[in-house]
Amino acid sequence: MTTTRGLRDRDEPFTMLTAYDAPTAAIVDDAGVDVILVGDSMGNATLGYDSTLPVTMDDVKSRTAAVARAVEDALVVADLPFLAFGVDEAESIHNAGELLKEAGADAVKIESGPHTVETTRRMSELGIPVMAHLGLTPQHVNRLGGYTRQGTDREAAEEIRELALAHEDAGAFALVLEHVPANLAAAVTDDLEIPTIGIGAGSDCDGQVLVITDVIGLGEWSPPFAERFGDVRGEMRQAVDEYKNAVESGAFPAEEHQHVEEDLDELY
Ligand code: KIV
Repeated sequence: MTTTRGLRDRDEPFTMLTAYDAPTAAIVDDAGVDVILVGDSMGNATLGYDSTLPVTMDDVKSRTAAVARAVEDALVVADLPFLAFGVDEAESIHNAGELLKEAGADAVKIESGPHTVETTRRMSELGIPVMAHLGLTPQHVNRLGGYTRQGTDREAAEEIRELALAHEDAGAFALVLEHVPANLAAAVTDDLEIPTIGIGAGSDCDGQVLVITDVIGLGEWSPPFAERFGDVRGEMRQAVDEYKNAVESGAFPAEEHQHVEEDLDELY
């Protein structure tokens, strides 16, 4: 069983992957991936949106519950969607609490900034483990002007370092670093005692995360820092084509797919 402690005490980097449904989560868990993130990337990856902004608490709750039902060993982390935190502290805590109490998550992830330090502290004090997330935070796409690299000049890099330390001090148990220079991620990893998890942040982080649809090759597009390790899109297309051809040619259903009740023969 993976817990929020001990992720950094490994000889090799640990692994995190997203999952948004039970069968996928079961495969990821069975493969021994340490952490499963029910990311708000579900917005682009599976819900057909152009961004993560429309994702709701109901979306994250139902998908977290499906993932939690399927997982035996991995730590399940649920993403708090856009504006489900940060507007009002009591509401943020209520929403995070629902993901643990009702959906079965072990922890929550929050796209972080100066405004989330105190929220992280309060949630941690209350027993809600918080994974922080700095660098490219896709919920800020409209402010950032795109899904661009972050921390690329000294001032921006220093701000990320300071925010990383502030979130560790506030009680975060891990930190995602997204689309930042590898040397900045290495420096932050050195600064912190909690584990860092990189996505487009080089190989010196304690762990790595990617979006499942990128890893299995299901999506139409992948970000430059991702790697496609399979071609599930191609395999699905082939299976669907074969099904359609089999129905249209009369090859499916075959005898083994149907049953005949002899008693009914007299009637029909
Ligand atoms: O929503 C998500 O999947 C994420 C990861 C890419 C870190 O935030």
